[in-house]
Amino acid sequence: MTTGNTPKIGPYRSQCDVQVRWMIRRDMPEVLEIERQSFEFAWTEEDFLCCLRQRNCIGMVAERQERIVGFMIYELLKSQLHVLNFAVAPWSRRQGIGSQMVKRLVNKLSQQRREEIALEVRETNLTAQLFFKKQGLVANSVLRGHYEDTEEDAYVMRYNLYSFDEQILPFTRHQPLQELDADADAEAA
Ligand SMILES: CC(C)(COP(=O)(O)OP(=O)(O)OC[C@H]1O[C@@H](n2cnc3c(N)ncnc32)[C@H](O)[C@@H]1OP(=O)(O)O)[C@@H](O)C(=O)NCCC(=O)NCCS
Repeated sequence: MTTGNTPKIGPYRSQCDVQVRWMIRRDMPEVLEIERQSFEFAWTEEDFLCCLRQRNCIGMVAERQERIVGFMIYELLKSQLHVLNFAVAPWSRRQGIGSQMVKRLVNKLSQQRREEIALEVRETNLTAQLFFKKQGLVANSVLRGHYEDTEEDAYVMRYNLYSFDEQILPFTRHQPLQELDADADAEAA
């Protein structure tokens, strides 16, 4: 007999109970745990703090039921949000949390009159490539030997607020983003 109260089968999909908010010092142990479980070459606490001390660097966390389930670190460049680190806890993946975090970044673009989100993804990180592609980012250049640890290439993926029909271009050699657009800008500006 069906009662109408049958639980839904499949992954937990409710997004309304996830809050994306500014990262605070108290979040660091949970953020570090997610970082360690997400990356072979994980950032250390010092890496996070060093980055977040920069006045143009922002940390945000996704929180669900008072537990940190994801985080992102990005820097504010003149016309771009450059994502430096982005992860969702392994136990919370495929539930739309990463998508919500990207949505938050896209909302910030128009609010702050910036037009682009950019990030680098390791050539071996197919999951992240598929995920960011699903979010509307396009891989349009490659940074050869970008990572000091493995000398892997990085694919540069971008989302531009104004080019909805952008085609995927063949990869070309590319200057690091920081060199192209080093003009940091404060979020309040
Ligand atoms: C990449 C990552 C952030 C995705 O976060 P997430 O919360 O699981 O993503 P979502 O649930 O919002 O996924 C949205 C869509 O992305 C795609 N996607 C996500 N993970 C995928 C996977 N493992 N394989 C294929 N597609 C995937 C799917 O299309 C998915 O939609 P669906 O679940 O309806 O099929 C997460 O896997 C992660 O933290 N990975 C390790 C850290 C990392 O690589 N960070 C990026 C560094 S550049």
